[in-house]
Parts: sequence; C-alpha cells; structure tokens
Amino acid sequence: ENLKLHEAFKQHFLIGAAVNPLTLDTQSELLKHHFNSVTAENEMKFVSVHPAENEYTFDNADRLMSFAKENGMGVRGHTLVWHNQTPNWMFEKADGSTVDRETLLARMKSHIETVMTRYKGSIYAWDVVNEAVSDKSEELLRPSKWLDIAGEDFISKAFEFAHTADPDALLFYNDYNESVPEKREKIYTLVKSLKDKGVPIHGVGLQAHWNLESPSLDLIRQAIERYASLGLKLHITELDISVFNHDDRRTDLKEPTTEMMERQAERYGQIFKLFKEYSEYITSVTFWGAADDYTWLNNFPVRGRKNWPFPFDAEHKPKQSYWELVNVA
Ligand code: XIL
Repeated sequence: ENLKLHEAFKQHFLIGAAVNPLTLDTQSELLKHHFNSVTAENEMKFVSVHPAENEYTFDNADRLMSFAKENGMGVRGHTLVWHNQTPNWMFEKADGSTVDRETLLARMKSHIETVMTRYKGSIYAWDVVNEAVSDKSEELLRPSKWLDIAGEDFISKAFEFAHTADPDALLFYNDYNESVPEKREKIYTLVKSLKDKGVPIHGVGLQAHWNLESPSLDLIRQAIERYASLGLKLHITELDISVFNHDDRRTDLKEPTTEMMERQAERYGQIFKLFKEYSEYITSVTFWGAADDYTWLNNFPVRGRKNWPFPFDAEHKPKQSYWELVNVA
C-alpha cells in the first residue's frame, strides 16, 4: 500500500479533504487511507443546514460527522457567515421587506449557536466568516447584504457569537486570492483590526485555489509570512492546483497533457516544501476534494470543462503529484 499522505506529513500538519455525499460514497477508501481531516464542501453552509427560519436540516452534515468519527478524522467547519449560499429569508421580513440590523444580528446569533452547539467538541476549527474582503481596489469589504444591513461589525459579531457557542473551537477568517498582494494587505488589515479590538479570532484560512503558474512561490511565501506576523494560526483550507489559468477559456482538452501533470507535480512539491518550512504556523492543509474524478473545477470558472487538480487520478491512483508530495515530506 502507498504511504498515507497524512502519515507522511504527521510531524507537520493535518491533511484534509473537502467531501460531499457523492464522494463519501465513491471515494471513501481513498479518504480513509490518506486523509485525517475532512470538511463539508457544501453541507454545513447556511442554505444546506438552515433553509428556512424554523427549519434546520442536518442529515448530510451529520453523515459527514459520523464518517469522520468512525475513522478517527478531525473536522474543519465551513462556513457560518458568507455572502454566497445563504438563503434570502435571512435578510427579509415575512412581507418581503428588508430586516433591520438588530433582527439580522439576532438571526445570525441563533444560526451560529445552533450549528456550533450541535457539533461542539467535534469540530476543531470553523471558518466563521468567509470571503468578506473585496477584490476591487477601491473598497476594503465586499458589498453584501450582511454589510449593507448590519454594517461592518457583522464580522466581529460573528466571531463573538461563535466564541460564546464553542469556546474551544479555533475561529478562522477564510478568503481566496489571499496571496495577491493588494488583497493580502486588505485581509491583513481586516484581521489585524479584529485582533486589535480583542475579537476572538485564532487563524487565517488561505483558500489556495491556485494554478500551474500563479501565485508564484514568492507570493505564497510573502502571504504566509504576512499572516503569520499577526501571531495567528494558518490553515490552508481549499487547496487545488488547476491546470488552467483563470482566464484560459479552453474547452477542447479531454485529457490533461503530460506537461501539465509534470508541472503540477513540481508545483505540489515546491508548495508543500514551503508549507513545511512554516509548519510552526500551518497546522492543517485541506484539499478542496481528493481525486480527479470529482472537483468543483469541472464547472468553475468554465461550465462542464474538466480539470485534474489533485494528487490522485480519476481511478484514485497516485499521480506524479502524489509522489512529489511524499518525496518532500
Ligand atoms: C464551492 C463548492 O465547491 C461548489 O460545489 C459550490 O457549488 C460552490 O461553492 N470558496 C469557498 C467554497 O469558500 O465554499 C466554495 O465551494 C469554493 C470557493
């Protein structure tokens, strides 16, 4: 049997995978063998667990928790407050008009308390607020209903409610384009202001949706160092190495080329070598999936286009990328 990825990196950090009901069915052997942490790809998001004000639906999330427990894996919670995958009822009164700030914050509190209390003691870290920082130069925070209605302290409120609900869970701010200098500085500014105000925040999540070229190793290192300088933990939360750049719109490739897979292996090796250098800060590294038979990148950013972003192929066999990982471990 192949060396388990989580064994290979056990001196350094947990090795996680995002899972969903399909991959729990189709990839369970692979998951059990190589990973010691799991995250729900969608099943703990607001719309999944709380579709209507008085309705909570935890079946899929509970199933993931049982899978993790049976196999001795940790669970990273994802996510409590986000502008996406949050139902409209949250922001509306019964007559369809917009709720006021107090109502929205009261609903937020009750959502966070209900979800976190259910899994208290079984989730080692939560992405409390996801993607609140803007990609546009002219603004720090992304326009959203949370921001419009509750104002910018919706972020600190979320962390305070979360800390009250489960004082032992590590609380994270999570974002993408986290290694792009301009956004990196905005994330740094936001998180620093939370810390300076005494808000209970324990870590920064680097989503790490990367590709064969960017971000450069230098930019990744700079991002890690910048966030680490806040004195917080770092988790790599959604790692995948897309074989396409974001602006590459090709749809004709049916199989990855040899060059792509070689380059991907080289990148994975370099990136994990870097993570190891910073394992004093980086305590968990989660891939946004596990093997190339299923990835959200098959639909994003180009619908229906395939991608091959993981260290395991569509048959769950180790790719060159896997061997590079083991090599640098
Ligand atoms: C994605 C899921 O992978 C998809 O299945 C879903 O359709 C949309 O969300 N940033 C995040 C994740 O924080 O929650 C997103 O997950 C990917 C980008």
